[in-house]
Amino acid sequence: MLFDLFRPAVFALDPERAHRLTLAALKMAPLGPIAEAGPLETEVAGIRFPNPLGMAAGFDKDGEVPDKLLALGFGFAEVGSITPRPQAGNPRPRLFRLVEDRAVINRMGFNNGGAEAAVQRLAQRKQRAGVLGINIGANKDSTDRIADYAEMTRIMTPLASYLAVNISSPNTPGLRALQDESALISLLDAVFDARGPEGPPVFLKVAPDLEPADIDAIARIAIDKQLGALIVSNTTISRPALASPHAGEAGGLSGAPLHDLALQRLRDFRKATGGAIPLVGVGGIATAEQAWARIRAGASLVQLYSAMVYEGPGLPRRIRHGLEHLMLRDGFSSIAEAVGSE
Ligand code: FNR
Repeated sequence: MLFDLFRPAVFALDPERAHRLTLAALKMAPLGPIAEAGPLETEVAGIRFPNPLGMAAGFDKDGEVPDKLLALGFGFAEVGSITPRPQAGNPRPRLFRLVEDRAVINRMGFNNGGAEAAVQRLAQRKQRAGVLGINIGANKDSTDRIADYAEMTRIMTPLASYLAVNISSPNTPGLRALQDESALISLLDAVFDARGPEGPPVFLKVAPDLEPADIDAIARIAIDKQLGALIVSNTTISRPALASPHAGEAGGLSGAPLHDLALQRLRDFRKATGGAIPLVGVGGIATAEQAWARIRAGASLVQLYSAMVYEGPGLPRRIRHGLEHLMLRDGFSSIAEAVGSE
């Protein structure tokens, strides 16, 4: 594969520089056709997804290349996290490749160009087909974080196929406290108010580092507020056994070492919601088999990010083809039929 040839050169670069070059290359690439509906087409929260594999948030923080990502074969692209005001994020270095572990640690801290710049960019694609998720966050120095989410909801509602409320980044101090029951209810009330009755479905992205009581409370609230989906999960602050010299870096861990934890959390949320709320499975997915297992465990959709670092841009197409094969092999006629069938 072509990427195998380039990988040593890419890996010789500082990871953040390599990422910027990847975005630049995608920007320059001619726009190919976006993924077409086929046997993997599936409907979640009233949205038709041409296939269930999406690019997770954090790759395209500023919404620069969503259509290029769709052209790589992703069934949907989630851009962000975007905050109301631009912010620089944490000091560098803040992004680490754990090559031996096929993992990434990041403590980017919501570096992004802010809502206004993102709107200018995304409004230009408004008429394009393709499912665009917009992942929203709060500014680090905000004195009223719930107001930030409400403002982001108002601004992004006209542009998004769905909104993803991200309260699970470990890199903005205190942010994950919004997952606590009373804070979460206030937050979602503000978001639904700001969205209005006609707006896009609201997805909520949670951390994998939750206790059983948190999971039950979040599941109850998700059902009560009729969320479009729960995205399970963000990066982990836990540290399973790791081999890489960067293992001790602070931040959120993603990629292969997150796989089992994220799968377990998906099962926990499936159980806690009783299947009443669609789930988006994310964390350590790198193969069609892993994507398929996540769907069978209860995910209506799946996402990935870290595996793109190691597998390159051909990965979404490979997973898509693999999923078609696995679906037929196991005797299912649609993705929806396979969800939670394990
Ligand atoms: C992320 N992720 C992330 N999530 C989010 O909701 N908002 C964000 O801004 C970011 N930023 C971000 C940056 C980097 C460098 C990474 C690696 C990840 C989390 C991401 O969307 C996903 O939930 C996790 O990475 C787990 O999936 P993978 O990477 O194991 O497939």
